[in-house]
Amino acid sequence: MTKLQRFGVSVEADLLEKFDEFIHQRNYQNRSEALRDLMREALVREQWQEDEIIAGAIAFVYDHHHGQLVNHLMEVQHDHYEIIISSQHIHLDHDNCMEIILAKGPAKLVGKLYDSIRSMKGVKHVDLLRSTTGLEL
Ligand code: NI
Repeated sequence: MTKLQRFGVSVEADLLEKFDEFIHQRNYQNRSEALRDLMREALVREQWQEDEIIAGAIAFVYDHHHGQLVNHLMEVQHDHYEIIISSQHIHLDHDNCMEIILAKGPAKLVGKLYDSIRSMKGVKHVDLLRSTTGLEL
């Protein structure tokens, strides 16, 4: 961990009051902790926008009986094997499956994989967790 550095921030009183409410609701111990998290969030968002090497997770739910969906999902994952670290498949019930793909690579490629899965017929829900390799933070 790098050395902590203090800096002063000037902010409108009512904004600070709202911020204090916000950090209280989220159980932060102090403003510094909350501010550090918000700064990291902003930097991670930037990494994704700038197409840097990122890490993320794509979680999706689908009915495995739906047409050729299982084959299409398999194909698209083979097309992106270079960025897929792992995938986990859970049989939720007789029909529904959940998969979680962990990916690391250029943000644009991970986004492309996410878009491909999202647009497939029979996929009921998809979400993308945008995270970071942690190296730049
Ligand atoms: Ni299954």
